[in-house]
Amino acid sequence: MDKHAQPPNAQSVSVHAQWLDLMTQTSSEAKAILSTVATRNAKRFAEIFFETLLSDPKARGVITQEMIDQRLQATMESWILRILSTWDPSKIEDLVAQQHQLGVMHGRMAIRIELVLQGARMIKRSVSQAIMNTGPADLLRIDAAATATGLIDLAVEIISTQYANEQDQANKTEESYRTFASTMNATLERAPAFSFVRMGKSISQKHDGRSP
Ligand code: HEM
Repeated sequence: MDKHAQPPNAQSVSVHAQWLDLMTQTSSEAKAILSTVATRNAKRFAEIFFETLLSDPKARGVITQEMIDQRLQATMESWILRILSTWDPSKIEDLVAQQHQLGVMHGRMAIRIELVLQGARMIKRSVSQAIMNTGPADLLRIDAAATATGLIDLAVEIISTQYANEQDQANKTEESYRTFASTMNATLERAPAFSFVRMGKSISQKHDGRSP
């Protein structure tokens, strides 16, 4: 194999390594703070996320308060909880796979990437504030806040990469459709032109008096 070639799942391999790195470099005290903050505040973090989203006219057409109440609030709460309180390295693969699926899903719904990034920023900000509210802004809390930011960034990185793949795929499909449509148009344009030429010829032959 070309030594510069990357395996097909190169991104997964490297994000997996980065996820593991973040997990192992975070102290157990910082992990405990994060898990507690996530458990106590996931509901509020998700509410802030949706309040911000609904205040943006670009998002209002895509999600409604009804969708949030029926399903999205609960799924966002469990996403936050899962990202900020999974410390078992054997679970990283599932976490990465979930972010891939979310990327595919959001990419297919053509949700604007800046809204996803904005939502992630809101969550990071509220998580950091909640961590700092648990006590003095010491190294432990700074460590916990840095890990929270790193984990959310990693998740959104996977979501957006997959997202880009979805859009490449959509562009390719659109391109093939355009090529197909223009080939069809060209064929259709040639067909009547051909018959008009023949028709014109036979009409002029009639006028020449050469036709019977
Ligand atoms: C950090 C950003 C985001 C995260 C982490 C996130 C996470 C999620 C999760 C966990 C689900 C549930 C998936 C499932 O059913 O398994 C979901 C669904 C959904 N999300 Fe997001 N989301 C984000 C941004 C957005 C934005 C910006 C919008 C729209 C403007 C959006 C619209 C939706 C919609 C419409 C669904 C429901 C899809 C369906 O049930 O068919 N999301 N999202």
